[in-house]
Amino acid sequence: MDEQVTVVDHPLVQHKLTLMRAKDTSTASFRQLLREISLLLAYEVTRGLDLTTKRIDTPLCEMEAPILEGKKLALISILRAGNGLLDGILELIPAARVGFVGLYRDPETLQPVQYYCKVPSELEDRTVIVVDPMLATGNSSAAAVQLMKDQGAKNIRFLCLLAAPEGVARMREAHPDVPIVTASIDDHLNDHGYIVPGLGDAGDRMFGTK
Ligand code: URA
Repeated sequence: MDEQVTVVDHPLVQHKLTLMRAKDTSTASFRQLLREISLLLAYEVTRGLDLTTKRIDTPLCEMEAPILEGKKLALISILRAGNGLLDGILELIPAARVGFVGLYRDPETLQPVQYYCKVPSELEDRTVIVVDPMLATGNSSAAAVQLMKDQGAKNIRFLCLLAAPEGVARMREAHPDVPIVTASIDDHLNDHGYIVPGLGDAGDRMFGTK
């Protein structure tokens, strides 16, 4: 697999993902697991962020200590399921700025159409992490990343819980500069655009809708 695609094979991530996939897992448990797993995935997607140093006093002496460089990160949630990943990530990066992108699929053209976009200022100076639990066809993810580029973002990463090979291929083709972090690349997409084996509709499972 291409080095821009990271599958987080940590045992805790894989264990929690299995619990989330099981159809009998309750909405409450699904939400709790999503929160926990998003923390672990956020740890991986932020690997390699630039550091600088700052002079501080410990109780024992002065030292030059590492801190994150540059402006606060921007987390961009693709509505609505992306919001389920936000809570856990914000626990780890509480100062991050947050944006939202809403896209729906045009029934005729099947192409994503934007209905909402509100993102932090100065995206060009921030690391931007676009989040959506399911990278299925990749059309909405690729469109959301393109929107961020149109707003000036230059340093973008994509975080999802599950990916289909088709979605990974679409993203690699449209945005080869954008690294992808996921907990699994599943087998395939079915005729309805669901990831198989997958976990069903991520939005329905996290929000208890049907
Ligand atoms: N979106 C979902 O919620 N689930 C899938 O399997 C694919 C897209």
